[in-house]
Amino acid sequence: MASIAWIGLGNMGSPMARNLLPSTDALTVYNRTASKAEIFVKNNPGAKMVERVEDIDSDIVFTSLATDEAVLQIFGKLECLSGKTVVDTSTILPDTVEQLSQIAKEKGGKFVHCPVMGAVAAADQAQLIALLAGVDKCCRQKIKKLLVPSVARLCIDLGDEVTKSSMLKLCGNFMILGIVELLGEGFTLAEKCGVDKNDLYQVYTEMFPAPSFKNYGAVIKDGSHGTVLGINVKNGLKDAKHIRELAERSGAGIPTIDLAIRNLNCANDKGKGEEDWSALVHGIKVLSNLE
Ligand SMILES: NC(=O)c1ccc[n+]([C@@H]2O[C@H](COP(=O)([O-])OP(=O)(O)OC[C@H]3O[C@@H](n4cnc5c(N)ncnc54)[C@H](OP(=O)(O)O)[C@@H]3O)[C@@H](O)[C@H]2O)c1
Repeated sequence: MASIAWIGLGNMGSPMARNLLPSTDALTVYNRTASKAEIFVKNNPGAKMVERVEDIDSDIVFTSLATDEAVLQIFGKLECLSGKTVVDTSTILPDTVEQLSQIAKEKGGKFVHCPVMGAVAAADQAQLIALLAGVDKCCRQKIKKLLVPSVARLCIDLGDEVTKSSMLKLCGNFMILGIVELLGEGFTLAEKCGVDKNDLYQVYTEMFPAPSFKNYGAVIKDGSHGTVLGINVKNGLKDAKHIRELAERSGAGIPTIDLAIRNLNCANDKGKGEEDWSALVHGIKVLSNLE
C-alpha cells in the first residue's frame, strides 16, 4: 500500500482524508491550524500528524486548500518529490495549475489536478465527482483507483493536459451558481407580484427535480442561508471571480457571472460572508426595493 499525506483539513479535506484511511496503512495529515489536525488524528486512529509541511515524505500527497495562493505556498514548502505524486483537489485557476505542475516537476515529482464536484455532504458520503487531469495515464489510473469508490462515486479522466480539470470544474460551478442566481430572481419575482413561495417551490421542483433546485430552492424560499449547503459567500466569491477570469481569457460573454458577483458582493457587504452563497439573494432584494 502506498503511504498517503493529506494537506488541508477544512470542510472538504477532512472527510476526503478520512475516507482514504482504509486505502493506506500510513496516512499523514497536516493543517495550518494544528488543532484541526489534532482533532482529526484523535477521531481517526491510524492517522498521524506533522506540524511542518517540510516533514511530509509520503508516496502520494493530496492538497485541499482555500485559495490559489495557499496551494502555491504549500507546494513551495514540499521537499524533494522524487518518485512521488502530488494531487491537488482545490478549485483554482488554470494558470495556477500550470505553476503547480512546474513546481512538482522541478522537485522531481508528478502532478495531477483533481478538483471535485459536490458539496461537504457528498464528500462525507464519498459521492463526489472527481475531475482528473495531468501526466501520465499510469499515474491517473493509480489516483482514480484510490479515489473510486472510497472518496468519489465517479472519476472523469480528462487526459494529459493538466489544465482541463480546472476549466471543467469552473464550467461546472458556473452552472450551480447560475441556478442559485436564477432561483434568487425567481423567488424575488414571486414575492413582488404576490405569488405564494411554497407554490413556486412546488412548480420548480416538479419541473426540475434535481438536488440543486430542491436544496437551494428550499433555502432561498425560507431565507435560511445560515446553513451552508455547499460553499459560503466568501469562498463562493473566489470561485465566481475565477469563472469570470476564465470567461474573459477565453472570450466568452457570460453576463450571469457578473450578476452573481454583484449579488455575492452585496451579501458580503451586509455581513453575510460566512452564510451559504444562496445569500446572494440579498443583492436581488436590494435591487427590488425589498431590503
Ligand atoms: N465547500 C465546498 O462545498 C467545496 C466543494 C468543492 C470544492 N471545494 C474547494 O475545495 C477547497 C477547500 O474547500 P473547503 O470548503 O474545505 O475550505 P475550508 O473549509 O475553508 O478549508 C480551507 C483549508 O485551507 C487551509 N488554508 C487556507 N489558507 C491557507 C494558507 N495560506 N496556508 C495553508 N493552509 C491554508 C485552511 O487551513 P486552516 O484550517 O488553518 O484555516 C483549511 O485547511 C477550495 O479550493 C474549495 O473551492 C469546496
